[in-house]
Amino acid sequence: MAPKRLFALVLALFAAASVRAQSPIFGQCGGIGWAGSTTCAAGSVCTAQSAYYSQCLPGTATSGSATSPATSSTSTAPATTPSVPPISGNKLQFAGVNIAGFDFGCNTDGNCNVSGAWPPLTQYYGMDGAGQMTHFVEDDGYNVFRLPVGWQFLLNGVLGADLYAPNVAEYDMLVQACLATGASCIIDIHNYARWNGEIIGQGGPTNEQFALTWSQLATMYADEPKIIFGVMNEPHDIPDIDLWAGSVQAAVTAIRNAGANSQMILLPGNDYTSAQQFVSDGSGPALLGVTNPDGSTTGLIFDVHKYLDSDNSGTHLDCVTNNIDDAWAPLATWLRENGRQAFNTETGGGNVADCVEFMCQQIAYQAQNADVFLGYVGWAAGNFGSPAEYVLSEGPTQSGTTWTDTLLVQSCMAPIAGAQSGSTGQ
Ligand SMILES: *[C@@H]1O[C@H](CO)[C@@H](O)[C@H](O)[C@H]1NC(C)=O
Repeated sequence: MAPKRLFALVLALFAAASVRAQSPIFGQCGGIGWAGSTTCAAGSVCTAQSAYYSQCLPGTATSGSATSPATSSTSTAPATTPSVPPISGNKLQFAGVNIAGFDFGCNTDGNCNVSGAWPPLTQYYGMDGAGQMTHFVEDDGYNVFRLPVGWQFLLNGVLGADLYAPNVAEYDMLVQACLATGASCIIDIHNYARWNGEIIGQGGPTNEQFALTWSQLATMYADEPKIIFGVMNEPHDIPDIDLWAGSVQAAVTAIRNAGANSQMILLPGNDYTSAQQFVSDGSGPALLGVTNPDGSTTGLIFDVHKYLDSDNSGTHLDCVTNNIDDAWAPLATWLRENGRQAFNTETGGGNVADCVEFMCQQIAYQAQNADVFLGYVGWAAGNFGSPAEYVLSEGPTQSGTTWTDTLLVQSCMAPIAGAQSGSTGQ
């Protein structure tokens, strides 16, 4: 074989090996413990998300781009157009954690045991939710918390009643602790569109009863710009989606008429607010018609949830999907077509390597589409114990004044890459 031919063959073999070794777009390309390829497919760049995870993000290398702790490299193959929607180039506006506890005792049928509510506050013998939030802001860079609460707790179990002041005062302590961190705070009525098994506006509580609660909550926080109103957690099995949109409209109207005109309001659809089914189940089309009293849709954001486990339930240790092809990409297209935005207020997974991989991919995709996705809120810290006690726990472990985050939080959910632990003594 002539030397020239041999040289060409070696080149060809080398090229074939390079192609095999490339990580796909949104695939992992580096990080502590990563033994796979550190080369990205054409049209993507290896970008560090944390010390533990680098991934191939759409784009081309620039001299100032982030580099991976592992080798960062880009392909020199001819550029091909990646099959992803337009890139906004923005970062997500929000990253946060659910601080659960006031919702304990609530079931998916909307039964909430008032005495099951457990404030995630040390003065009520709960976990230190205030300390957790301070840690999450100061050490991890989080800027939003979602504060679930049972509707029955707010009314002390009496449908149609005014807010029950002693209970609301307890809940307000968590809200004030949240606001004191400088973060935005989502008030989330965690009732699955129901009160004791019956659906709002469709045989259960009337729209007026629902609106009364929202009017009174909005009056409390009308002058607080960092409050976000989460109309309802995870409606499901709703017989008539248009009637449900009418119930959501009643809440929006009540909130605005109470003087809370500047704040964001989150509009939930059917199917447990599944991001994947938001359009196909009719929720999105129905909720497009919900408006502010002036007819605008300013500040009206669609509320969507998405887990990464096999049945989107958020109950399994392992993750099987990054949700990009089935949920986030089609939803991004629909949101752009309709000039609207969505907020992923529940997502999470176990503290295992497959969840780190898929969660990092999901978050990176959302950030690449930050024109339509405002951010994400992980499920959950607050009164959940350690991951040993609750599989999806994002509760940090406290030792003295030092907080140590869970694997998933430190690996990719915390906005400050590689954040692991820090001291936020109070
Ligand atoms: C309600 O919650 C309290 C406190 O956790 C518990 O003792 C009680 O059994 C619960 N009641 C029902 C009906 O589940």
